[in-house]
Amino acid sequence: MSKRVIVTGVTGQDGSHMVDYLLANTDYKIYGGVRRLSVKNHVNIEHINDPRFELFDFDLTDPHTIQHAVAKINPHYFINFAAQSFVAGSWSFPWQTFTTDATAVLTILETLRQNCKYCRFYNAGSSEEFGDVQYEPQDENHPLRPRSPYAAGKCAARHIVKVYRESYGLYAVQGWLFNHEGVRRGEEFVTRKITKNVARIKNHLDTRLSIEIFKPIKLGNVDAKRDWSDAEDFMSGVWAMLNQDKDPKQLQEYVLASGETHTVKEFLEEAFKAAKVDIYDKEGNIDPKFVEVDPKLFRPAEVTTLTGDPSRAKQELGWEPKSGFVDLVKKMVHNDLKDYD
Ligand code: GDD
Repeated sequence: MSKRVIVTGVTGQDGSHMVDYLLANTDYKIYGGVRRLSVKNHVNIEHINDPRFELFDFDLTDPHTIQHAVAKINPHYFINFAAQSFVAGSWSFPWQTFTTDATAVLTILETLRQNCKYCRFYNAGSSEEFGDVQYEPQDENHPLRPRSPYAAGKCAARHIVKVYRESYGLYAVQGWLFNHEGVRRGEEFVTRKITKNVARIKNHLDTRLSIEIFKPIKLGNVDAKRDWSDAEDFMSGVWAMLNQDKDPKQLQEYVLASGETHTVKEFLEEAFKAAKVDIYDKEGNIDPKFVEVDPKLFRPAEVTTLTGDPSRAKQELGWEPKSGFVDLVKKMVHNDLKDYD
């Protein structure tokens, strides 16, 4: 009989990629947890037409839905990609963020401990946990130094995952995933915000038909540095973390990253280049007609730089990202340009 996998957050970028990955690489049955919204947001899973994939109602902030799902499905794997994942939003909704990203993880762990002890659990961890970084590049030994309610929630989740692994021998891990992007990325995140706006500006310049006044892209801290990868590349790394041939108490957690860092400004410049839009004035500076820095978009506390060291994942899991920074930017820009075909 084929194994059963719960994946939460399947309408989001990572959850939907994980479903695609599991359908392509296993013969398991996948149960996708979705939160009911009055406006349907299933665009990232619309392409899936496979009887091995089934949706169920799920809300991380309702412990009963977690208990019900585990009792009914009796899963072999539980992959938790549901979260309040927008760092900037975590200052506006700190309680909701902490409840979703930390307390709910405890509910899942306790439910598995009581009812489904041999289920393997993965929780989405983040490079944001390293926060106020002490050294470059960050590896698995870097201390946790969160700078936002979001990151504090992810650190709390990491500790409780470790406690359940060590106390009860539960197979529970949380990787450190550095920034990962793609065509399914939400538009509030900086990369997609940029590529969507670059496509809009490109179309405006090409057609000159739009009655809309030419508006620049408004951004916050363009000097922030991030280690960006293609989200699709991360799924095999997460799956490998879930399938270590080890006693649960010996499990390792891994950094998944490219090992390369770029500023937001570099992403922006590369995106305009991919769309073949010249944004520079005669002095070689970015013309403010294209980009405006808006102080309102700065965060109360910023993670100024992140660079991951994925060498342990490479050595021990045989994992490494396939595509690089320029290819990622091109893929996202070309996808958003298609909206105007
Ligand atoms: N979102 C956003 N919007 N970010 C901006 C903007 C803007 O207009 N302008 C500058 N930035 C800067 C942010 O201040 C931050 O330094 C950087 O761009 C990246 O912001 P996001 O794309 O929102 O991602 P993030 O790095 O905060 O968090 C993402 O990566 C984490 C892994 O490190 C999210 O996916 C998290 O859920 C994930 O854990």
